[in-house]
Amino acid sequence: MTEHKNLRMVRQAHHPSNHPERSRGAYELTNYNGVIERYKQYLPVTDKTPIITLKEGNTPLIYANYLSKLMGRNFEVYLKYEGLNPTGSFKDRGMTMAISKACEERVTAVMCASTGNTSASAAAYAAKAGIKCIVLIPAGAIALGKLSQALIHGAVVLAVDGNFDAALDLAREITNKYPITLVNSLNPYRIEGQKTASFEICDTLGKAPDFQVMPVGNAGNITAYWKGYKEYKEKGKINKLPLMLGFQAELAAPIVRGYPIKNPRTIATAIRIGNPASWKQAEKARDESGGLIDMVSDKQIIEAYKLLAAKEGVFVEPASAASVAGLLKLARKKYFNLRTCKLANLRTKIVCILTGHGLKDPDRAIKSIKEPRLVKANLKAVLKEIGY
Ligand code: F0G
Repeated sequence: MTEHKNLRMVRQAHHPSNHPERSRGAYELTNYNGVIERYKQYLPVTDKTPIITLKEGNTPLIYANYLSKLMGRNFEVYLKYEGLNPTGSFKDRGMTMAISKACEERVTAVMCASTGNTSASAAAYAAKAGIKCIVLIPAGAIALGKLSQALIHGAVVLAVDGNFDAALDLAREITNKYPITLVNSLNPYRIEGQKTASFEICDTLGKAPDFQVMPVGNAGNITAYWKGYKEYKEKGKINKLPLMLGFQAELAAPIVRGYPIKNPRTIATAIRIGNPASWKQAEKARDESGGLIDMVSDKQIIEAYKLLAAKEGVFVEPASAASVAGLLKLARKKYFNLRTCKLANLRTKIVCILTGHGLKDPDRAIKSIKEPRLVKANLKAVLKEIGY
């Protein structure tokens, strides 16, 4: 065989059309222009909406080899890596919608309360749109990466001497009284944008997963995903809905416990929320889908955080690891085996949502690993350390 022919065969084997996920109608990467353009038929936009985009969305759905193996041969686990959005979290999907609509309405200032990611995203999209952004963050309780993002994008950042729930109350009151648009997930356009993640999952898998596992904080995201799945079913794009499995942190688990938590605590600062704004909608997603909302301890979150990095090669922030911690908790209880119909050759598909990138919270990573060993700058010393 000539080398030329050989090369052609290798190219063909790797061509996108020969990839199983691609041939099932995954989106062409060329000319990708963000979630609004891709899914505009499902979104409240018109030709008059100025689209403010950083080309968010189109995040990879990664097959998780280690976790799938751990779950057993009837299971396929996938990771929806939302940390690969432009500002490093899923918030960008909702923010492109909220900021585009704000611009359509000729708003000149937006505001949010945030545990960090919403503020980073709002600041970036407001910068792109050329409008003012004000963010209220709980003092001393947001990860370094997120704070630096909000600041470098030029937002007015105020650290409130209170928790996220107090900051959100203030943001709601101010935006009710003044001509400033609230861009927390109480803004319905945020939910509209975020629902596109369910569309992407279905478009990639060719159907909805059997189970979707995700962290729950203010509960906007679970609301959005559920809305997305239901709409795709109504439009005939999928014929079955997933069970929605949400996870809160043990000491910040108001929905699980059934009452607001005055002083929520967890190392997963993104979901350190005691009184979620979309509480009722999260319960609706849980109940309509036949799923559950449960909790995981900080210890379980850190274990899953390390496992994802070490075994799957995916670095997430602690809140995102709550989904995998939840998956492992339910697996230990044999939850999935009881609910899986063992139809011939049909593997149960589980998608875990990884909401934010690990670089958002570098402090936590450094606290979770061993510091590198110091060696002399000579060959012998290095070889000795690495066992050669
Ligand atoms: N994961 C990450 C990384 C988050 O930043 C958040 C929420 C969640 C999960 C939970 O999503 O609130 O829709 O249930 N972060 C918000 C913020 C509260 O201000 O950035 P949710």
